[in-house]
Amino acid sequence: MPPVTVFVCTTCRRSGDAEDAPRAGATLAANAEPLAGPDLAVRPVECLGNCSRGPTAAIAVPGGWTYVFGNLDPAEAAPALQEGARLLAAAEGRVMPWRGRPEPLKRGLIARIPPLELPA
Ligand code: FES
Repeated sequence: MPPVTVFVCTTCRRSGDAEDAPRAGATLAANAEPLAGPDLAVRPVECLGNCSRGPTAAIAVPGGWTYVFGNLDPAEAAPALQEGARLLAAAEGRVMPWRGRPEPLKRGLIARIPPLELPA
């Protein structure tokens, strides 16, 4: 199992997209899936609870913080998610550093969630 997982919501729409338009989230997932490898898992999921601010993805690492991002560009955000995953995996305390974080992951931050066993 790779150390970091990117979850991508496949059912997100962008505001203003037609009902019958391809799902922007599905496009983002399709662009992210080829980036998976020994150090990165990419998991398509249906709804991350951020529907009004999609496309949405989350980056999670065992024992670390989980980050939820929204308003992602389905055509361009996949490399940013990959870089964010790399930063998180390498970070001390498994907290994604702000410095060096790709712009889509700065302006698109929706939430960060602590690990279940948060150190004191
Ligand atoms: S449909 Fe994507 S977060 Fe709900």
